Amino acid sequence: MKTEMNEAVKFIEGKLNSNPQTGLILGSGLGVLAEEIEDAVIIPYTEIPGFPSSTVAGHKGQLVAGTLEGRAVIAMQGRFHFYEGYDLKLVTLPVRVMKALGVEDLIVTNAAGGINESFEPGNLMLIEDHINNFGTSPLIGPNSEEDGPRFPDMSEAYCRERIALAEETAKEAGISVRKGVYVGNTGPAYETPAEVKMLRTLGGDAVGMSTVPEVIVARHCGLKVLGISCISNMAAGILDQPLHHEEVIETTEKVKADFLSLVKKIVARL
Ligand code: 6GU
Repeated sequence: MKTEMNEAVKFIEGKLNSNPQTGLILGSGLGVLAEEIEDAVIIPYTEIPGFPSSTVAGHKGQLVAGTLEGRAVIAMQGRFHFYEGYDLKLVTLPVRVMKALGVEDLIVTNAAGGINESFEPGNLMLIEDHINNFGTSPLIGPNSEEDGPRFPDMSEAYCRERIALAEETAKEAGISVRKGVYVGNTGPAYETPAEVKMLRTLGGDAVGMSTVPEVIVARHCGLKVLGISCISNMAAGILDQPLHHEEVIETTEKVKADFLSLVKKIVARL
């Protein structure tokens, strides 16, 4: 993985005009944020040595580097998922690459199913903490101390200051946000109603198939993390009736505008 890393970093550095300060990982349907980046340098994953090519529909599969709200950023428009068959070391490789490029803070986003009954599709949730339910970790295997500690502290995986900043920013912008615990499952099957009930009992508020591996690696290499989930639907068994497709589309479109404006305003204040 070290060789892949160095080759990827060398390749990307050769294309960039400046060092990015903030990294963004844009989840399903949230990639539109990358279109707001000015003086953008676009690098498709297929061109980057050592990078897998993203395969999920709704995920573009490219890095977009440039300026957002006056800050040097690099965004992943589409991410790699464990359920696609990639090893967690590969899933999290872009986080290490961002760190090597000079990134100091990371904003991780995803679409997630709501398991807190008071949530509604269209809510934005600031991630306060997570539950790693992948049954494995991207840090399994030999540890190199230059990458990070063998046993990284996870007591503040999601930066409290950043959460407070995001909350304040949302309030000022009139955007309502929730807070909660994100459960990371492998997927690709959605949870059964019994599993959703279990996750709720365990303290989860939302469930998805990403984010947790990337945040573990981000903390391992010392990046500050802010996590935002878009509640795209309620998880199985929470609602009596299934959602209509049109409603889901409407919800996603509505939340997109709030999501875009919130993230831009947060970036402006970093
Ligand atoms: Cl309900 N579950 C999981 N695992 N991921 C999701 C989801 C549900 N809704 C959006 N992403």
